Amino acid sequence: MLDPHGEPQLIELPTIPDKRGSLTFAERESPLPFRPRRSYWVHGIPVGCERGGHAHQATHEAIIAVAGSFRLRLSNQAGVERSWHLGSPTQALYVPPMWWRVIDEYSEGAVCLVMASLAYDEADYIRRSEDFFTG
Ligand code: TYD
Repeated sequence: MLDPHGEPQLIELPTIPDKRGSLTFAERESPLPFRPRRSYWVHGIPVGCERGGHAHQATHEAIIAVAGSFRLRLSNQAGVERSWHLGSPTQALYVPPMWWRVIDEYSEGAVCLVMASLAYDEADYIRRSEDFFTG
């Protein structure tokens, strides 16, 4: 199991291919380092849009490009910046709490699936960059 307070990390998801296609799955602690309590997915995204622009104080997330591709940039309060191009439905990017995320460069028809450790709570969001980056 991954350290739930560790770094963002790309996780290979178990996938069962056969002649009908492929089935990929994720469960708590295998291989996700948290227990998912909520899922949401973002779709119908116009090319050129940017989403995100916030951090979570307590929520752990796993982000999957179930269709198409996009770029995901993460920054923490220590000044670490990382970037991924997600474009495989068999990979999840684990994002621990307290990483600022920006998602852009969506391809046409991209679908972004997110599994989250906590129920939706606006109080968990830090949405003002000046609040996050100045601590
Ligand atoms: P927003 O945080 O702007 O989306 P993104 O992370 O892609 O930038 O969320 C859009 C709206 O959806 C906002 O009004 C909050 C609401 N929302 C919920 O009601 N429940 C949820 O689980 C999530 C993730 C968002």
